Amino acid sequence: MNPIVPSRRDFLKGAAAAAAAGVVPMSFVKLAFADPAQDFTFAYISDAHIQHISGTKFVRNWDRGLIRAVAETNLLTPKPDFVMFGGDLGQLGMKEELDHGAEIMSKLRYKTHYVMGEHDYYLDLGEYWSKLFGPHWYSFDHKGVHFVVLNSVLTYDDWTYNKWPSAQERMLQMAGLDNPNGSPFMVGEKQRAWLKADLDKVAKTTPVVVFSHSPLQKLYKGWNFWTEDAEEVQAILKPFDKVNVIYGHVHQIQYNQIGNISFNAVMATAWPWPYPNSYAQAQHTMPVLTVPMNRADPFFERDATGWQFIDVHTGRVALKYNLYNNTARTVAWNPATGKPEDTVFQDPAKRIPPQVHY
Ligand SMILES: [Fe+2]
Ligand SMILES: [Fe+2]
Repeated sequence: MNPIVPSRRDFLKGAAAAAAAGVVPMSFVKLAFADPAQDFTFAYISDAHIQHISGTKFVRNWDRGLIRAVAETNLLTPKPDFVMFGGDLGQLGMKEELDHGAEIMSKLRYKTHYVMGEHDYYLDLGEYWSKLFGPHWYSFDHKGVHFVVLNSVLTYDDWTYNKWPSAQERMLQMAGLDNPNGSPFMVGEKQRAWLKADLDKVAKTTPVVVFSHSPLQKLYKGWNFWTEDAEEVQAILKPFDKVNVIYGHVHQIQYNQIGNISFNAVMATAWPWPYPNSYAQAQHTMPVLTVPMNRADPFFERDATGWQFIDVHTGRVALKYNLYNNTARTVAWNPATGKPEDTVFQDPAKRIPPQVHY
């Protein structure tokens, strides 16, 4: 299978071939600039949630999601320059989970960068993760693009250090999607100062791509689709001409534009989360540009997993999503409206209503 090809027309052919062959549960990213010599691609795999059962047993379905993504990434043509992993490698931050996830990821034939997820962090506050993968936040430059990785899943010190009788209890409380005992995610003052200092060295015309685990915007606090200090982080990114934030955590396609910043979520290899407004919980808090997932069946564990191709040829990202067992979608910048729009599902009449389960 060769799903990734450079031109738009060829991409569509490739997407059709990929759909016929079965879709890959990962994200493929292409950055393209005016000078073709500068073009490059990278792959994006996220939210594997490797879960330990006992001994050498792990939840098989989550294992398979990650193993498949790694295998397909190794087969990509053209080869990606590197791979990003978007966080939540483990389910409960355990050494067994992180080791097992790292072992699966070690089969990748590319340089791989990691983002911290809350499921990786709240058992030992990222200590073991750091031994495997390095610092919690960092930046790197690649072919004229400045990439920044943030740990956006920190929270208030009182919640982290004083509230829970054990590290295990703290991890379990943060692991719940809709647990009112959780606490809002944040980047935090120390890391924001680092980000500002890091970006002070970068020309304002340089494209900036920021990887975070939680969205660096406020979507739905009840499920922690939220970053408490999002406005402060956005203010640091504001001076740059073109900024892209790519995040995991929400296990679904989302997109939004705030000022100069384009926000795009990537899909998980483990399972899809439903949209909060599928359950009529918080429609008014979702960004105006986010349309429902069009998931035929929110309880089908592989629906809404897949891969996407991201093209910033015009300086604005255009995402071509290929969903497993669902309709392919394109979310592209519309110069007429100045917003990213879903070219298939922006029309409410074309949306697939979510299936109701009782
Ligand atoms: Fe996740
Ligand atoms: Fe997460």
